[in-house]
Amino acid sequence: MTTESQAAERLAFLAAEIARHNALYHGEDAPEISDADYDALMRENNALEAEFPHLVRADSPSKLVGAAPSGHLAKVAHAQPMLSLDNAFADEDVVDFVGRVRRYLSLGADAPVALTAEPKIDGLSCSLRYEKGVLVLAATRGDGTTGEDVTANVRTIDDIPERLSGGDLLSSPPDIFEIRGEVYMAKADFAALNARLLAEAEDPAKARQFANPRNAAAGSLRQKDPGVTASRPLRFLAHGWGEVSSLPADTQKGVMDAIAAWGVPVSDDFVRVEGAEQALSHYRAIEAKRADLPFDIDGVVYKVDRLDWQKRLGFVARAPRWAIAHKFPAEKAQTLLKDIDIQVGRTGKLTPVARLEPVTVGGVVVTNATLHNADEIGRLGVHPGDRVVVQRAGDVIPQIVENLSRDETRDPWPFPQTCPECGSAAEREPGEVDYRCTGGLICPAQRVERLRHFVSRYALDIEGLGLTHIESFFRDGLVQSPADIFRLTRDTLLTRERWAEISAGNLIAAIDAKRNPPLDRFLFALGIRHVGEVTARDLARRYRSWDALKAMIDRAIEARDAAIQAVGEPDEKFATRTAKELAAIVETPGVGPEVALALVDFFAEPHNADAVADLLSQLQPADVIHETRASEVSGKTVVFTGTLETMSRDEAKAQAEALGAKVAGSVSAKTDLVVAGPGAGSKLKKATDLGIAVTDEAGWAKIVADAQ
Ligand code: IVH
Repeated sequence: MTTESQAAERLAFLAAEIARHNALYHGEDAPEISDADYDALMRENNALEAEFPHLVRADSPSKLVGAAPSGHLAKVAHAQPMLSLDNAFADEDVVDFVGRVRRYLSLGADAPVALTAEPKIDGLSCSLRYEKGVLVLAATRGDGTTGEDVTANVRTIDDIPERLSGGDLLSSPPDIFEIRGEVYMAKADFAALNARLLAEAEDPAKARQFANPRNAAAGSLRQKDPGVTASRPLRFLAHGWGEVSSLPADTQKGVMDAIAAWGVPVSDDFVRVEGAEQALSHYRAIEAKRADLPFDIDGVVYKVDRLDWQKRLGFVARAPRWAIAHKFPAEKAQTLLKDIDIQVGRTGKLTPVARLEPVTVGGVVVTNATLHNADEIGRLGVHPGDRVVVQRAGDVIPQIVENLSRDETRDPWPFPQTCPECGSAAEREPGEVDYRCTGGLICPAQRVERLRHFVSRYALDIEGLGLTHIESFFRDGLVQSPADIFRLTRDTLLTRERWAEISAGNLIAAIDAKRNPPLDRFLFALGIRHVGEVTARDLARRYRSWDALKAMIDRAIEARDAAIQAVGEPDEKFATRTAKELAAIVETPGVGPEVALALVDFFAEPHNADAVADLLSQLQPADVIHETRASEVSGKTVVFTGTLETMSRDEAKAQAEALGAKVAGSVSAKTDLVVAGPGAGSKLKKATDLGIAVTDEAGWAKIVADAQ
C-alpha cells in the first residue's frame, strides 16, 4: 500500500519528470521517451491523484496541456484555453463515445447524433486571432493557458491570410474570431528541408536534422527570427475556434464551412456523418489513403456537430466531452537486429537499444529501437542476428514488438553487469526492472543530471542556470561538481561566447543568493535516491541543522559498519534487518528503512562524501528556525473534506502545518478534527460515527486566527 508521504513524494517526482518530458517534446522537439512510457507516467500520476485527491499539486501535470512555452518568444495568455483531446483506439471506444454523448444529453439510445469527422493532423496547434477580419495575433498552444506569440512568423505562412475574405453575404467574419488549427509541414517539404540543412551545413556531421515533419514544423514556427520561418515551407489547416464575438452557424460543419469561405484552409476530408457507424466508415476511408496524403496524420477526430450540444457537454479536465481522437494503429515492419547497445541515462538507468538494419516504417527510416530493460529482452528472447518486427507510432521511439527468430533453447542474451560509461558495477534492486550504474557522482553519464537536479526549481533553484548552461559548463570542464558552480566567476563567464557584463553579473548574483539554502532544499538537491522533497523536509524539520543531521548519519554509518563486521557475509535478510535498525536511528516520522539505507549508502560512498565536503566549503545550509504557532490543533491530525470556498486545499494544508498539525487524507480513529465544507460525504459520516470533532470552514478560520 502506498503511504501518504510516499504518494506525495512520487507526485512531486512525477510533476518534475513529466514537465521535463513535456519540455523535451514540445520545447526542444527532442522526446526522450516513447508516448507509451509518457502515458504510463501520466496514468500513474492520475491514479495517485484519484487515491489521494488532497495531494494534487498546484503544478500537477493533470492540470497542464502540453509544455509551458520555452522562453524566448513573448508569452500570450489565451482568451479561451487551448485544450487537448481524449483518445479512442478501438471501434468500441467510438461506439462508447457516442453512447456517452447520448446518455449525458439524456437522448434516447437510438437518437440520431450527427458528428463531424476529419483527419487528425500531426502538427502543432496554433490560434489565429482576427479582429474585424484582420490577423492581429497568432499564438502556439504552450501549456494550454499561455502560449507563445508567433504572429510575425505566422504572417510568413501562405495558407494563413492577413485578412479574411468577406465570405458569402450571410457570413462575413464577426468582429472577433479566433481560428484554431494545425501548423504542419508536408512530407515532401520535410524531406527537402532536411536535405537543404545538410547541404548548407559547414560540418555535415553537425547539421541540424529534424526527426519528423511535426518536429520540423514546431522548430520552424517557434523561431525568434521570422526570416527563418519564411524559409521553411509551413502550411495550415483549421479545425476549430477559440474566442469569438459571434458564430456564423449553429453547427460545427456550418462554422467550418464559413471559415473555409473566409479563405482559411479546412481539410478536404472534413465531413458530417450520422452516428458511430458512419464515423467508423469515414475512418476506414481516411486510413486507406493515409500513405498517399501529402502530410502526416495520426487518426481521425470526431466532434458533435450541434453547437448547443457541445456547450451542454462541456469539458472534463483537459479535453471536451464532445470530441474524441480515433488514433490509427502503430505501423510495423520486419528487419534484422544487428546489435544490442547499452545506453546510460542521466539517472544511471541502463537502457538496451536495438541497432537495426535500416527499414522504412510508415515513411520514416528506422535504425534504432528501444528494448526498455533486461526483462523485455528476456520476454522477446532476442539476440543479435535475429529478425524482428519493429513498430512505430507517431513521434515515438520505435519498439520491437515481436521476435521472428525465437528459439527457446538459447540462453537469454547476457545483460552487462557493468556500466559501459564508467565501468562501475550495474545493479538491480530487488523488485526493480532496471539495472542502474552505481557510479553516482563519478559516472559521466550521471553527472550532468546530478548538476541539473542540483540547481533545479525545487532544489537550489538557481535562476538563469538551465540545462544548456550546465551542459556547456560541464563539457568545457568548468563545472564538474556542484561545488564548482559556486566557484564560477564573472570573469570566467565573460571569456565565454554569448556572455556579457549584465548576464554574467546576473548569474553570479543568482548563484551567490543561494549560499545559505534552506536545509531541506540542500538535502533534496544532493539527489540521494529515495530522498525527495517531502522526505528532505521531514528530515530537515526533525534535525533542524546540517550538523545535527550529519551527526545522525555518521552514527547510522557506524552502526551499519559494525553490523557488517559482526556478520561477515551480509545476505538479503541481514540487509532488511539492518535497514530497519537504521530507520530507528534516523528516527523521523515518515522516513522508513528504504530511505535510511539510501542515506547511509550515499554518505558512506567516499566520492559522494568528498563532493559534499567540497560543497560545504562553498555554502552553508540554513538551520530550520521555523517554529510552528501554538494552537488547539498543534500535534493533532486534521482531515479536510468537501469543498473549501475561501481557500485551496493546498492553502488549508499549509495553514494546518504552520500550526503544527498533521493533515491526513482519510478519517480514522487517529483523526482529531474534520473540517467539512459543502458536499462532504463519507468522510464526514465516518467522523460523526466515530464521534470525532467536526467544524466548518469558518470554524477552521477561527482556529487559525486564534493561534498565537
Ligand atoms: S480539435 C478542443 N481537430 O490534436 C479540441 N485537433 O490531441 C481541440 N489536432 O491540440 C482540438 N488535428 O493540436 C482537433 N482535426 C483536428 C485536429 C486536432 C490535429 C491536434 C490539436 C489538438 C491535439 C489534441
